Amino acid sequence: MTNKERIQLLAKGQMLEDDDFRALLTSLTKEEEQFLYQEADRVRRQHYGNTVYLRGLIEFSNFCRNDCLYCGLRRSNKNCDRYRLTREQILRCADDGYNLGFRTIVLQSGEDPYYTDKMICDIVSSIKKQHPDCAVTLSIGEKEKASYQAYFEAGADRYLLRHETANPEHYGKLHPAELSCEHRKQCLRDLKEIGYQIGCGIMVGAPYQTVEHVIEDLHFMKELQPHMVGIGPFIPHQDTPFRDRPAGTLEDTLHLLSVIRLMLPSVLLPATTALGTIHPMGREMGIKAGANVVMPNLSPQDVRGKYLLYDGKICTGDEAAECRSCMERRMEAIGYQVVQSRGDHASFQNV
Ligand code: SAM
Ligand code: SF4
Ligand code: FES
Repeated sequence: MTNKERIQLLAKGQMLEDDDFRALLTSLTKEEEQFLYQEADRVRRQHYGNTVYLRGLIEFSNFCRNDCLYCGLRRSNKNCDRYRLTREQILRCADDGYNLGFRTIVLQSGEDPYYTDKMICDIVSSIKKQHPDCAVTLSIGEKEKASYQAYFEAGADRYLLRHETANPEHYGKLHPAELSCEHRKQCLRDLKEIGYQIGCGIMVGAPYQTVEHVIEDLHFMKELQPHMVGIGPFIPHQDTPFRDRPAGTLEDTLHLLSVIRLMLPSVLLPATTALGTIHPMGREMGIKAGANVVMPNLSPQDVRGKYLLYDGKICTGDEAAECRSCMERRMEAIGYQVVQSRGDHASFQNV
């Protein structure tokens, strides 16, 4: 089979054999690459037209009890200048976001036990009360199922929890022993069962990642059927054990975005900040390769430069309004349109 045939099979909704995924992920010619992007864009247009959904990201705390080896917020990083936003600051950011036209607010943080379940529920329900037409997404790590249930009842709509890698051995090389691949996967299953729109995902080019791991990730995604998949390149952070590791590449990230679009046609797929960090037009290229979501930063300007997962992060000096209009211009320049909408997954629309 040729790579073109493999792409056509995927576009018809068929799953590939591992050998075919391997070929697709490792041996694309420039011509085949263009065909892959075109097909992924065609499929995204069938489901979402040329619209791009906006998510306003509030990074409300960079304290973290975990020690993931790749992340600048890991607890061992003594050079990280820690901050926490108050309830009032978070609500003000959400209001600003609403006024800028965001209809999804993403609350993200390190795993910071300072915020009790009660506080998270209060913040979520206050945002929902103030802005009933807004979706709230949480991305605050691994919790008990009862906590996830409580946030959901408080009004949270979606939850982002990248699985990082579906392979337990690989997981063990990226995380300290107290964290487990199985627990992370279980969290995703619990979240789905509760009724959230869920997002899993990986870092492309993470240390020790092989193409076999990526194929396992694709199988995991196919089985889990997430509503969102967050993938971006791994980028080293100078104060982590992976400081000297190479970043994931633009090409590998774009190929994988397209393959995921073809495999999960109606998935919500962000062109991430990390992609925009490794290439000035990375997010635009991500959208053209099948992504349909962008996540401009809504965090207050004075803390932006402190939520540093990796070196060189973009948008750290810009105001929320600047990021918002910058993103709109960037999308329009390549023929796509950002819309003022919650941007739910197709299976959750009109429910
Ligand atoms: N603490 C929560 C969690 O881990 O799910 C949410 C915040 S965490 C910073 C969000 C994501 O950032 C992680 O899932 C990881 O994939 C990504 N990330 C962390 N360090 C990174 C790095 N060096 N390069 C690229 N992405 C990174
Ligand atoms: Fe903490 Fe998330 Fe970073 Fe891991 S990836 S150290 S859980 S913020
Ligand atoms: Fe943040 Fe351009 S998207 S400044």
